[in-house]
Amino acid sequence: MIKEFKKPLSGQKVFIGPSSKEDCLVFGIETSCDETSASIVLNGRKVLSNVISSQIDTHKIYGGVVPEVAARMHLEAINGVIGEAAETAGIEMQNITAFCSTAGPGLVGALLVGTNAAKTLSMIYDKPFIAVNHLNAHVCANYLNTDLEPPFICLLISGGHTMIMKVNDYNNQEILGETLDDAVGEAYDKTARLLGLSYPGGIQLDKLAQSGDKSKFKFTEAKTDGNYDFSFSGLKTAALRLIKSFDGGSIPIEDISAAFQENVSETLFKKTLRAANDFGINKIALAGGVAANFEIRRKFFDLSEKGFKVYAPEIKFCTDNAAMVASSAYFLSGISDELDIEVFSR
Ligand code: KG4
Ligand code: ZN
Repeated sequence: MIKEFKKPLSGQKVFIGPSSKEDCLVFGIETSCDETSASIVLNGRKVLSNVISSQIDTHKIYGGVVPEVAARMHLEAINGVIGEAAETAGIEMQNITAFCSTAGPGLVGALLVGTNAAKTLSMIYDKPFIAVNHLNAHVCANYLNTDLEPPFICLLISGGHTMIMKVNDYNNQEILGETLDDAVGEAYDKTARLLGLSYPGGIQLDKLAQSGDKSKFKFTEAKTDGNYDFSFSGLKTAALRLIKSFDGGSIPIEDISAAFQENVSETLFKKTLRAANDFGINKIALAGGVAANFEIRRKFFDLSEKGFKVYAPEIKFCTDNAAMVASSAYFLSGISDELDIEVFSR
């Protein structure tokens, strides 16, 4: 049976989530950066549809995301993506329990498109609107099609953020440490650009690294004061210096990529493992676009043989998608209807 909610008066609590006895169908929308996505998720875990329209081919021309272009493209794509998400799931909109969208952090113009769409749907169908934090959503991607339960340590690595979290409960995510400068995805994309790869270069650098020799070059590990903090801007500068040293000659792209990837993955692995050991937690989850990385996944999944349970979202749920947004609305529940909420940037 699907839980039936009327849109509550402002400030009233909306109770969906694991404590709800009835099934909850959440319609999620994600437009924080360069992916327009809509999804329907049952009880925070079962993905009934997840439609993604990517703008990457357009932004590639400019070497990065152009905010105004992103907002305009979301506007063009949003209605089609919403319709397709409902059709693929075979769900009538009036049977949706609640509508939600990413409210931030992200590009304000882009966020406004998804948030206004979800608010409008909530008014049309007289159901609650829930505003979702993009970072919480990335963590919740680990619940999609799995049985993962808190507590666990989560390494969140995306284009805009890098942090180690202690997920104490579904609605309690505590930040233990974060990057002091560049995010991992940003370091990947900037270094890829120095190597002449097109935007977003992270995935290409990852592929090249797999055929390189990681021992040909060595980047030194960044030292930070905080136990669980990171710093990646020095690595990017070291890569620039190394690339320049070839002075117009042929650059061993694969080997540099492999050395870069080894440095990043080792740093992330060591710090996350330290957090897990310090807190006596043997469950580790990866989240965010960079969690799609081959070497990072390999290092962590090897821990499965050492008494750890390791989780990482399916590749399509690592980068931005609306299923994780719907899951987050469900699991971080008990939130009031939030029609008056504003979007926010990083
Ligand atoms: O989570 P996401 O889709 O967007 C943000 O919230 O930032 O992450 C995008 C980031 C980009 O920097 C992209 O280059 C990186 O994830 N990325 C990767 C890989 N796939 C995506 N970085 C390294 N290896 C990959 N396989
Ligand atoms: Zn993201």
